[in-house]
Amino acid sequence: MDALVAENEVRVLDDFSSGRRSQLPANLSVIEGDVRDSDVRKAAFDDVDIVFHEAAIVSVEQSVEMPMESHAINVDATLSVLEEARRTNARVVFASSAAIYGTPETLPIPETVAKRPSSPYGLEKLSADHYCQLYHDLYGLETVALRYFNVYGPRQRKGPYSGVITKFFAQARSGGPITVQGTGEQTRDFVHVRDVVRANLLAAMTDRVGEAFNIGTGRSTTIAQLAEHVRETVDPDIKIEHTDPRPGDVRDSLADVSKANEALDYEPAVELSEGIESVFDWIRH
Ligand code: UD1
Repeated sequence: MDALVAENEVRVLDDFSSGRRSQLPANLSVIEGDVRDSDVRKAAFDDVDIVFHEAAIVSVEQSVEMPMESHAINVDATLSVLEEARRTNARVVFASSAAIYGTPETLPIPETVAKRPSSPYGLEKLSADHYCQLYHDLYGLETVALRYFNVYGPRQRKGPYSGVITKFFAQARSGGPITVQGTGEQTRDFVHVRDVVRANLLAAMTDRVGEAFNIGTGRSTTIAQLAEHVRETVDPDIKIEHTDPRPGDVRDSLADVSKANEALDYEPAVELSEGIESVFDWIRH
């Protein structure tokens, strides 16, 4: 939001189930409501050129526990957003996910690889990602799907379903232990929110519509390394514990970002160690 308000008129639709109103800049308008509510959607879309559709149940675990609810938000609400965009002719930049790839045949993962999602969440994002392309091909709607890898950074709300970096910091700050699910050998491509914001701004302006792009860094980190890194940052005496592996968990995830680089001029700029510092700074302030 901070990146948009200087030069644009910005309207936010949020139910604040995970974000906080206090984190929004002052000079924008806010509609507090549910994206599944058609009146709320209509009001949100009024006179809008570009929609950044980030509303979702973002947790793999939550989708495994309640697939119907997560489908309703991740697929049905996205379809409703696309319908509203068709009515108003707004561009939609959609937050897709690396979870659509599941266990891929190759690493790093290009956009073209066979998709084998291993959770309801992954399948829901795949479906919504395909809907974006279909709405472009069928109705000429300007859509861009950004397949986020593991997004982290300051301001992520802590809770049982937050991303692993936020979770590890919360555990470490309350004295531990840091809980690694499974062996910790699973790998992720952690991309800082600042790079993701930049990708969204590029997607808002590109003429490469009707396409999908990986948004990661091309760098791989094991969850065990991450746990170690957070422990060293907060307090070297904290314990790291291993729990059962998580059902539906993806083993390896690593982005090939060459398409986003060529087509959008996207270049990830934040190294993991710098990004982890930014989270720690934010937690402490
Ligand atoms: C994450 C995002 C998802 C996004 C996807 C893209 C969240 C909550 N999920 O899913 O929205 O679309 O990346 O790739 O932001 N872990 C532990 N201990 C914990 C928590 C997690 O070991 O306490 C492990 C998990 O088992 C997993 C890894 O850390 O192997 C990452 O988990 P998580 O942060 O929940 O993200 P993803 O499931 O990869």
